[in-house]
Amino acid sequence: MPFFSCLFSRRAGSSTKRPFEVVEELSGIHKTKLYTYKELRIATDDFSPINKIGEGGFGSVYKGRLKGGRLAAIKVLSAESRQGVKEFLTEINMISEIEHENLVKLYGCCLEENHRILVYNYLENNSLAQTLLGGGHSSIQFSWRTRSRISIGIARGLAFLHEEVRPHIVHRDIKASNILLDKDLMPKISDFGLAKLIPPNMTHVSTRVAGTIGYLAPEYAIRGQLTRKADIYSFGVLLVEIVSGRCNTNTRLPIEEQYLLERTWQLYERRELVGLVDSSLNGDFDAEEACRFLKIGLLCTQDTPKLRPSMSTVVKMLTGEKDIDGDKITKPGLISDFMDLKVRGPEKSSSEMKNTSSYNPSSSYNLSTQNTSCATMTFTAPYDRST
Ligand SMILES: Nc1ncnc2c1ncn2[C@@H]1O[C@H](COP(=O)(O)OP(=O)(O)OP(=O)(O)O)[C@@H](O)[C@H]1O
Ligand SMILES: [Mg+2]
Repeated sequence: MPFFSCLFSRRAGSSTKRPFEVVEELSGIHKTKLYTYKELRIATDDFSPINKIGEGGFGSVYKGRLKGGRLAAIKVLSAESRQGVKEFLTEINMISEIEHENLVKLYGCCLEENHRILVYNYLENNSLAQTLLGGGHSSIQFSWRTRSRISIGIARGLAFLHEEVRPHIVHRDIKASNILLDKDLMPKISDFGLAKLIPPNMTHVSTRVAGTIGYLAPEYAIRGQLTRKADIYSFGVLLVEIVSGRCNTNTRLPIEEQYLLERTWQLYERRELVGLVDSSLNGDFDAEEACRFLKIGLLCTQDTPKLRPSMSTVVKMLTGEKDIDGDKITKPGLISDFMDLKVRGPEKSSSEMKNTSSYNPSSSYNLSTQNTSCATMTFTAPYDRST
């Protein structure tokens, strides 16, 4: 196989193992499909810009047609993995074994020479970021029923990663652009398990794109504490976005409405949550259910991680199997001071920011500039699968 021959030429100098030993080892490990680089070049018409469908923190994504006619999303990882082929394959193997109707399926990968390419099931209807939150550039109408189905689907997918997969997976980047929609608008979570595939100095949450900061749980953003509860926080933000049809941050709105979570809390305290539901629904929604969803969003984003419900509990709350009326809701955790420091910009270096920024749960967002899209923040968080 071409894959193995190229592998041998790369490893010949660095490994003491003889080629046939590596083959034996690898064939024991990989159950995942291995694509040749040539195959993927053909599928994407030589990675033609015409076939490029997006670019994220991990690299570029191309639409391609595989041998046999199946469509695929082909993600070319930008940084060469520091892991050896064996470690990379072990992780890939774990991801490709995961199957759930609300998770994007990994078909396989390519690891020829320095290439690290992932091949996924192609989803026809793009991401929630480009459709529901895309500012009217999509023709898809999201009825209340559809939003409810999407929210429950995402919750089920995340509950599966958190509670069924062993060892469990913290996604670490739950956000609207990582929720893809199939032809029936069934939601699929993408990019789970990627954290371990890239070098430690790349394992950051990129906030190049406005809005990403708004999904980060304060304890993760500030102290780098990454647990399932950080994902649950991000899910809570996403849920409020789905119900309201608004991005978590919109600096074009009047100041008191710019930060969605803060706005949700204000309306909750005034018992006016229904006012947050997307006006494009023209009142055609189940008000009781929509307000329940918003309250669940608030429960998920509470400042104290322990108070946030587990994802399986969230599923029950969303479907109405579990009553939430008895649950006290405390104020959401907001990364106000941290954001203020960061977005105010270049007076401080990022390392100074890391040392001096503090989290003040009692204050609200107080961004002073309109330029959230230029904000950048990187940090390396300990990856914790045990909590
Ligand atoms: N399986 C897929 N099917 C269809 N389109 C996809 C698929 N995967 C990714 N895309 C498209 O490519 C875009 C870029 O995806 P990518 O995951 O690289 O970046 P992102 O989600 O915007 O950010 P991040 O790198 O933080 O995940 C997505 O927004 C989506 O439009
Ligand atoms: Mg993504």
